Amino acid sequence: MIRHVIAAIATLLAIWAVVFMMELDRKAERFKQIQEIIEKTKEVPMQVSTPSLSQQATEQMEETKAKEAEDEAAKKLKTLKERAGSAMAFKVSPLYKQKCSSCHGVNGEGIIGPKLIGKSEAEVYDALMGFKSGKRKNYVMYGLLSKMSDENIEALSKEIGTFKEKLDASKE
Ligand code: HEC
Repeated sequence: MIRHVIAAIATLLAIWAVVFMMELDRKAERFKQIQEIIEKTKEVPMQVSTPSLSQQATEQMEETKAKEAEDEAAKKLKTLKERAGSAMAFKVSPLYKQKCSSCHGVNGEGIIGPKLIGKSEAEVYDALMGFKSGKRKNYVMYGLLSKMSDENIEALSKEIGTFKEKLDASKE
């Protein structure tokens, strides 16, 4: 009788053990699933939020950059228009444009350097030769003219001597 009871208990224990193991397995499985879900939720917002944040930042930066570029372009256009406005009066030689216009203006209207419009060819020539020889002291003009050929100085003098006429003609 006792043997039967022991055998029965043993069987029950064995069954319980099996069930317990199965239960553990199930729990372990569920735990794994939960862990996976946790992992995923960790990954998802990280992956989604990080790029979206940086994307936003880049977009904002690009927006500001674009605006700055726009402003810059607008400014450049304005100065270009202003220059074109005064440049449109009449055409000048490449030599004048390259060497003299930055200081005396595209049409000799004067910027840093004095206004040249209205000066006669002789006046300009005398001034330039004076600068070149050092008789008339000006560091900037001397630096510019010391290496310039007399032919170019003559040509420039002749050209500048016509500025007034050309300007008047452009206004008609
Ligand atoms: C970097 C600026 C600068 C450039 C470039 C320049 N000049 Fe001048 N120029 C001056 C300044 C400043 C004076 C005034 C100097 C003075 O009166 O002593 C002047 C004076 C003159 C004068 C005398 C004007 C007067 O009222 O007596 C003439 C003419 C002249 N420049 C022609 C030219 C020519 C032509 C060029 C191109 C080859 C040229 N300049 C390039 C700055 C410049």
